[in-house]
Amino acid sequence: MSKLEIGSGNKPKEGYLHFDIRSNVNADVIGDAKKLPFRDEEFSEVYSRFFLEHLLRKDARITLKEMYRVLKKEGVLEIIVPNIAYFFKLFLTESGQKKEWALNKIYGFENYVEDHHYFGYDEETLKNFLTEAGFREINRISEEEQYLHLKAIK
Ligand SMILES: C[S@@+](CC[C@H](N)C(=O)[O-])C[C@H]1O[C@@H](n2cnc3c(N)ncnc32)[C@H](O)[C@@H]1O
Repeated sequence: MSKLEIGSGNKPKEGYLHFDIRSNVNADVIGDAKKLPFRDEEFSEVYSRFFLEHLLRKDARITLKEMYRVLKKEGVLEIIVPNIAYFFKLFLTESGQKKEWALNKIYGFENYVEDHHYFGYDEETLKNFLTEAGFREINRISEEEQYLHLKAIK
């Protein structure tokens, strides 16, 4: 299979090889995304949804380089993270449940130890990280304000 999902958790995307750090979520391969146990240029696509924000930013930089390494030339990365700019705004302007939701999206839901958020991204920050890792043609493919859904090419 030449499509890899990283941080698949309890919502694995169909058609992908599933990789996660937790052993209790039925991933195909278990490990830490900072050091992916795959060969260079093994995959045509890498997909990751609500995962990168669970890493310290120094580890996110390492992991994006790992994603780049395992992608074939011209391979596609599709990545989705919460848009921290949206949730900061919500936190400042809302109260009650919406404010609580913003806090969960900023800091993580804390349902298990890997469920904390260690960093947050707005569009500029995520694009800079992706550029630094070597990606090009980085584009937002959904205008949904709450999330950053980006596609990038190796
Ligand atoms: C919030 S869940 C997202 C799950 C799924 N992708 C979704 O969209 O619902 C984040 C996942 O990333 C995984 N994770 C956290 N740190 C990781 C790491 N260093 N390497 C691999 N997976 C990790 C967690 O175990 C968890 O399953």
